[in-house]
Amino acid sequence: MCPGSFDPVTNGHVDVIARAAGLYDELVVAVLVNPGKAGLFSVDERMELLREAVADLPNVVVDSFSGLLVDYCRSHDVPVVVKGLRAVGDFEYELQMAQMNRELAGIETLFVPTAPQVGHLSSSLVKQIATFGGDVSRLVPKAVLDRLLAKRDGSA
Ligand code: PNS
Repeated sequence: MCPGSFDPVTNGHVDVIARAAGLYDELVVAVLVNPGKAGLFSVDERMELLREAVADLPNVVVDSFSGLLVDYCRSHDVPVVVKGLRAVGDFEYELQMAQMNRELAGIETLFVPTAPQVGHLSSSLVKQIATFGGDVSRLVPKAVLDRLLAKRDGSA
């Protein structure tokens, strides 16, 4: 399973998802439903954009979850969580969550180092750049770019 906020999915996410999909028979990409944090895209929009982004990966399914990650893993028989690591800045918090998820439910976490070409990407930066008219066309899948431009222009 690859869990995340995916608000929105970036080329960095797609890199990690594609590589995780190559390691397992089946991969679930699941969007966290966080009632305390509205985000730019709704959970349904995020899932739709993810589905378009992984359309060429037949063993990937897109879902959403709320509450604890370990509860989703237990109820869906997910043994391993795959996370991308961009730089040391990601490591401390990711290590803490990995250790906690293993303690809570025996869930293992596999870290995939992101490809260097996408190591600087984050959904927050992409949203900020797009909002102020910057070019994010090389940073996100085409469907996300179209949706970001529509939101910026007020047509979505
Ligand atoms: O894309 P993000 O925002 O970095 O993803 C973080 C996510 C969704 C993977 C993480 O916040 C999470 O697992 N949230 C679910 C709540 C939970 O299980 N919290 C305890 C973690 S030890």
